[in-house]
Amino acid sequence: MNRSIENHLTTRLHALESAGLLRKLPCPAIAESHGELVQFSSNDYLGLSMEPFLQEAAAAATNRHGTGAGASRLLRGSHPPHAELEEAISVWKKTEAALVFSSGYAAAVGTISAIIGKGDVILMDKLCHASLIDGAKLSGALLRVFPHNNLERLRALLEWSEKNHPEAKILILTESVFSMDGDCPPLLEIVRLKEKYGAWLLLDEAHAVGVIGENGGGLAHKLNINGQIEIQLGTLSKALGGCGGYVCGSKPLISWLVNKARSFVYSTAPSPSSAAVSLAAIQWLFSEQARERISRLWENIHLFSSLMRFPQKSESAIIPVRANSTRLAGQWSASLEEEGLFVPAIRYPTVAKGTERLRVTISAVHTKEQIERLATGLLRLISSQPGHAC
Ligand SMILES: Cc1ncc(COP(=O)(O)O)c(C=O)c1O
Repeated sequence: MNRSIENHLTTRLHALESAGLLRKLPCPAIAESHGELVQFSSNDYLGLSMEPFLQEAAAAATNRHGTGAGASRLLRGSHPPHAELEEAISVWKKTEAALVFSSGYAAAVGTISAIIGKGDVILMDKLCHASLIDGAKLSGALLRVFPHNNLERLRALLEWSEKNHPEAKILILTESVFSMDGDCPPLLEIVRLKEKYGAWLLLDEAHAVGVIGENGGGLAHKLNINGQIEIQLGTLSKALGGCGGYVCGSKPLISWLVNKARSFVYSTAPSPSSAAVSLAAIQWLFSEQARERISRLWENIHLFSSLMRFPQKSESAIIPVRANSTRLAGQWSASLEEEGLFVPAIRYPTVAKGTERLRVTISAVHTKEQIERLATGLLRLISSQPGHAC
């Protein structure tokens, strides 16, 4: 028997391919041609990544501080843009302090495993992002999952934790905008529950910052509860058009993470230019131009939802269109691509089997005509499947 790793992995790759689940990176020519399609797949919700003022901020920081940070933050990898960015994040998010990581994923994994461990309890929404799941598993805490946005089940789990693990610290994990469904949690009720049971809350604002709330401050900001959430986490790589992740909260939280978050301590600092880009993007969020750009984004979201005749208003820039099968999602995506529109098919294991979908993301820089073309194409595909409901 051939026991080589190549043989083992080739067999497994074949299995993925026959299930229609093999993922492949596009070759440069295809990636280039995707660039010519109208993108409904990007998380660059405000179209910032191509803004000249951010490109100039990157160039200026590179010229001044070099292309790489050169070391981890604790070992001479800290450059002025890092501290300036952390200060800007804490002002923007109205928290005492903030810490920047090389990605949102690194922020989640490092933070959760630093603040909670064996003997503690994590209660997590079923639809939380992979980074939160991985952080929870890495922490070694007892993990319990509640059905998506189900307050009754969350309350029952809090009661169970209080009764069965009276000494444990309890951490609730949820998101401001769920990345595949685009909906928001009942955050005020979750905050009330966690306060009643003495639990802590970690809120991932990855898809909410730049989109929801005044100055794009996110859902916690919109509801004016920043001070009641122990840990706010987010990414600088979506609406802010840059790269990296952050955590913000109290000063003791941030000092603890500087000491104990392994993805922070044992990783090279983000490049000074990426910190400078995020700093410029956050400063821009306070401008009149940003206010206009965010309202244009919401006009586009409402236009698409109303053309699609969705019964409910969309709560974010992520709008799923359910195909409910891997085959159909792939067919729809390919058919739209022929019309010059790029909308990715999302399949298992990213979403549950039977809930496969197209994940439409709307941007402030889409034109009305582009959104109308997408809605027309999608409605035609949906109506060609009698009895199909999204
Ligand atoms: C909800 C959520 N959290 C965290 C992340 C990770 O952020 P980053 O891409 O900066 O690693 C993502 C992005 O994919 C996300 O969708």
